[in-house]
Amino acid sequence: MTTLTLVRPDDWHLHLRDGAMMQAVLPWTAQHFARAIIMPNLVPPVVTGTQAAAYRDRILSALPDGMDFEPLMTLYLTEDTDADDVAAAHASGLVKAVKLYPAGATTNSASGVTNFDNVRPVLERMAEIGLPLCVHGEVTDSDIDIFDREAVFIDRILDPIRRATPGLRVVMEHITTSNAVDYAHAQDDSLGATITTHHLVINRNHILAGGIKPHYYCLPVAKREEHRLALRAAATSGEARFFLGTDSAPHTDANKLLPCGCAGCFTAPNTLPILAQVFEEDGALDKLEAFTSKNGPAFYGLPINNSAITLSKSAPDLPTHVDTDDGPVTVFDPGFDLQWRVA
Ligand code: NCD
Ligand code: ZN
Repeated sequence: MTTLTLVRPDDWHLHLRDGAMMQAVLPWTAQHFARAIIMPNLVPPVVTGTQAAAYRDRILSALPDGMDFEPLMTLYLTEDTDADDVAAAHASGLVKAVKLYPAGATTNSASGVTNFDNVRPVLERMAEIGLPLCVHGEVTDSDIDIFDREAVFIDRILDPIRRATPGLRVVMEHITTSNAVDYAHAQDDSLGATITTHHLVINRNHILAGGIKPHYYCLPVAKREEHRLALRAAATSGEARFFLGTDSAPHTDANKLLPCGCAGCFTAPNTLPILAQVFEEDGALDKLEAFTSKNGPAFYGLPINNSAITLSKSAPDLPTHVDTDDGPVTVFDPGFDLQWRVA
């Protein structure tokens, strides 16, 4: 196969940031993706409907002329979140999901949730109105090994929340373990799971063996090879519950290359070429469209896009860095030569 036409993809987990960074990274997403679920972990976080509306306006103003892109807004769940505000933001069509960060789990998550009982009324309201909860699924306990934090979260937090809140639609975001794949498989269709581009490509050796590679450090951190293979099998299965959330998370090189560097891989520019190659390698090119363009809209109850995108088999011309007014941002290096380009 030398060309591949897909329903235009969406990205169900994206960090666009704000200001100069957003200006620089937004076109890389908008050139390939029609819509994206926009993460609310700004400083300060996007907590209220009013804040989400203002952020949406800033995104649309940063969009270059002639580019078509719809930001799907989310609210950052705090222990003070007002259920009525959430319901109003959903009813107006502004907000498509609420994001749960356990406090301290990742970049800008300090305002996240510590005591899950305190968000129960909001979760119950969300179940009533059908508003999905996007979950960063890691516990933060210092005595839990960082490589086990996702599996422990599923047992201690996620499963109890779902049992206590029947009907709540939940997205397990950026899953990184076979435990998460197995859990997702065993649930009904109120549960979806996103998988990133980079977790299909790297395992923990890529980060740590032969010298530390800060550009491969993200959260949840990549796990053992057996987990990467489980994620690949899930993504390439075409199964409806698994869909693309790139978690493209730009940080300047200055902020990555520090004694305490930021977590995040910037994959917006090369996600589609990488995915085409991964799916082709696994003999599953016919499942790529389900993963990038169909399963996500189905979970969110949105129509699939009515435009298409074509990939052709030739080496893409992609930068290694994207320049921003805050400094360069390194594009994720998959470690192999890419063979597909977006036409
Ligand atoms: C994200 C970020 O930089 O905002 N980082 C990451 O490693 N994925 C936060 C997140 O999604 O956990
Ligand atoms: Zn993220």
